[in-house]
Amino acid sequence: MKIELNSLFPQYKLIDCGSGKKLEQFGNYVLIRPEITAKDHAKLSYEEWQSIAHAEFFETDKTLGYWQKLKEMPDTWQMSYYNSVKIILTLALTGSKHTGLFPEQVLNWNFILENSKYLNNSEVLNLFGYTGSTSVFAANFAGKVTHVDSVQKIVDRTRLNAQDSGVSNIRFIVDDAVKFVKKDIKRQKKYKMIILDPPAIGIGVKNEKWILNDMLEDLLLDVRELLDEESFLIMNIYSHEISDKHLYKIFDNIFSDFDKLLFDKIYGKSSTGNFIDHGYFIQCKRGRY
Ligand SMILES: C[S@@+](CC[C@H](N)C(=O)[O-])C[C@H]1O[C@@H](n2cnc3c(N)ncnc32)[C@H](O)[C@@H]1O
Repeated sequence: MKIELNSLFPQYKLIDCGSGKKLEQFGNYVLIRPEITAKDHAKLSYEEWQSIAHAEFFETDKTLGYWQKLKEMPDTWQMSYYNSVKIILTLALTGSKHTGLFPEQVLNWNFILENSKYLNNSEVLNLFGYTGSTSVFAANFAGKVTHVDSVQKIVDRTRLNAQDSGVSNIRFIVDDAVKFVKKDIKRQKKYKMIILDPPAIGIGVKNEKWILNDMLEDLLLDVRELLDEESFLIMNIYSHEISDKHLYKIFDNIFSDFDKLLFDKIYGKSSTGNFIDHGYFIQCKRGRY
């Protein structure tokens, strides 16, 4: 599915992309970042990009790099999103090219909103939850949201986003997602909605290795144990290493009794008409909704 995120999220715009980079507007600031899936030729010239942008990120290795400011801008700033409820997120120029917001999550916020009447007083679990945009959005509708990420600094940012957005029903957990799920099975926990955004490769609090290709199936088998009889599952897969066939097979084996409302690769369209790949979006439900 191809989508121009700006139509759903007015504060964010993919202005142009191509030749391995993207030009994006996050609120008041425009950034140039590497984007491996930007395979077209950019429609605007690099000089035009640089005249619009406030900062550009340069990679020094696969995961790290540095920002070069092209115009005056702060290192952190806020962005808000409003759709029935308002969330306020702090973004930052981080050393890993990310800003603290994956704007394509707006598709999940919309799904949560569409199903919000079923979340009343119920529990939501967000695994690999990053800075918590989706936890904060869900907290507006759920009884309680449990937010799990293995990095303390990232969970601290979630706490800030929750405070600024005026929600106080999030449980902040710094833990390895795989271990947390196993502990919750022992505790016989059940959730009405589980959200997960597992990276291709990750690391737990005690250096536990997360390798999506090898570990996704086992994690999903465990996640299934934690879902209410009537429940929702939201999953993003950005990894370019997992094949479509493999993903469908795992999913169909484990969640055959769920209705797939969305199971598709999402491509973000820029204002100039080029595309980047946002990976798979899976949104499904089980029960009489
Ligand atoms: C792709 S990001 C999630 C983005 C998030 N869904 C959003 O849009 O805001 C993946 C997150 O998983 C976390 N992570 C990596 N390995 C982990 C592990 N073993 N257990 C828990 N979290 C982990 C990382 O710290 C990172 O915040």
